[in-house]
Amino acid sequence: MSHVITLIPGDGIGPEVTDATREVLAATGVDITWEPREAGAAAAEQHGHPCPDEVIASVQRNRIALKGPIGTPIGRGFRSVNVTLRKALDLYACLRPVKNIEGIASRFSGVDLVIVRENTEGLYSGLEHMVVPGVAESLKIVSERASTRIAEFAFRYARANNRRRVSVVHKANIMKLSDGLFLECVRKVSRRYAEVETSEVIVDACAMQLVRFPERFDVLVMDNLYGDILSELCAGLVGGLGVVPGANIGDECAVFEAVHGSAPDIAGKGVANPTALILSAALMLQYLGEREASARVESAVRKVYRETTVRTGDLGGNSSTVEFTRAVVNAL
Ligand code: NAI
Repeated sequence: MSHVITLIPGDGIGPEVTDATREVLAATGVDITWEPREAGAAAAEQHGHPCPDEVIASVQRNRIALKGPIGTPIGRGFRSVNVTLRKALDLYACLRPVKNIEGIASRFSGVDLVIVRENTEGLYSGLEHMVVPGVAESLKIVSERASTRIAEFAFRYARANNRRRVSVVHKANIMKLSDGLFLECVRKVSRRYAEVETSEVIVDACAMQLVRFPERFDVLVMDNLYGDILSELCAGLVGGLGVVPGANIGDECAVFEAVHGSAPDIAGKGVANPTALILSAALMLQYLGEREASARVESAVRKVYRETTVRTGDLGGNSSTVEFTRAVVNAL
């Protein structure tokens, strides 16, 4: 079967890691036609908008995109393209599988967990105002609809991937209404998935347990801000941002991307680690129903780390992006 996929190379190291990923995907033999679209700083200069309508239309048409990181100016300039895409495409679930890779040093072994983050509301709703000079207010929005669909997503994912447990992460002891509603929605959904165990954990206790016993966690479902913070923490458990894949998924389309940013400090030097985007592409293949190719890509990456000394600078090596990519293609 052939697939048409929107390709958003992005800023900074984005074009380098997307090139590497395309090369690996080409080696799988899966028939992919790429539809490249510019978003980010270059698009802002060329089209006057960092996320032109045509980018969104392309993803809507193809229902799937592979995306490099896109920089967001702090405190000025254009709105985050990532947030724009998530809103426009209603990509309500952020999926971050976090798993040890043998050969990458980390403090823990046996980590194999999945963070499911609600992507559309919570404290990220952008509803902020100054009440009076010197006092700012930021609104946390929690709706029954969004909480129920993210809970559905988490339990469906657990069932489809033979995961045993879903832990709901919350702070309903303090935010009794907002987090209380989120928790109640997850509880309701959980009743329809009797084969999946449900546990409840308060976010601060969860952070502590994650850095003591990460191997005890399976699927975790949580709101936007907790998910933002804890998924970064979890990336740190297995070797950092360079090796953790991700996806933003809605009912109509999905965008696959690494967790890391555009790394302006190393952009254009040919030293970026493409592992995270290659593993995101493996998730994408799985989503496309190309399960065998997906498994082959993941095991090729694992083989390179397990059996070779090819490492990019972020992991203490001196291999280039191209050398690492070649090693993965050879392993395939
Ligand atoms: P960053 O993830 O770009 O970089 C943090 C550190 O990690 C840097 O030292 C960088 O060199 C290193 N690093 C990141 N990815 C790497 C890779 N693949 N290989 C080797 N080293 C890597 O985070 P930072 O500096 O906070 O953000 C830079 C820009 O990226 C910002 O404008 C931010 O808004 C944007 N960003 C975009 C994301 C996206 O498009 N999904 C996600 C996170 C940040």
